[in-house]
Amino acid sequence: MAILKIARMGHPILRERAADVPDPTAPEVSRLVDAMIETMEDADGTGLAAPQVHMPWRIVVYKVEDERAGTEEGDPDGAGGVPLTVMVNPVVEPVGDETNVGFEACLSVPGMAGPVRRHSQVRVTYHTTDGEEVVRDAEGFHARVIQHECDHLDGILYPMRVEDMGQFGFVDELSRCHDEAADD
Ligand code: NI
Repeated sequence: MAILKIARMGHPILRERAADVPDPTAPEVSRLVDAMIETMEDADGTGLAAPQVHMPWRIVVYKVEDERAGTEEGDPDGAGGVPLTVMVNPVVEPVGDETNVGFEACLSVPGMAGPVRRHSQVRVTYHTTDGEEVVRDAEGFHARVIQHECDHLDGILYPMRVEDMGQFGFVDELSRCHDEAADD
């Protein structure tokens, strides 16, 4: 399939609530998922939500590389990477009250990064493209990725959640004054 064009902040599709997928096993869903994976990998992103490729459906793909897991304050020791995951109609719930702040970036907001407070632990329930229902618990950076991607399905971009706009900026400028580089 093809590499899809990624909508950037300001495009109205990124502010819409995406629709539930009526049949996660439909062939057109699998075709879209394949193209989303290809697009995410080409852009070197951690995750991608369907509205980012102009498709207003509740579909998310993500993959947490080993070197990214366990890098966040509050991450448990030994948290590993997460294999490529496809979530159709995901529903996220916080687990516990703990939150933490970490830098995020987004393929729809290229070149920028900013600090966002997220729940440290979440539970997500979703369907696979085989129609199976999965319940997955996640914490730390993995939980952050899930919350960021599922926000896209509700028309929310991470800059809307940045509390300290003084720390929001261009990655290459931020990295001049911070040794800890911002997210990719
Ligand atoms: Ni994003």
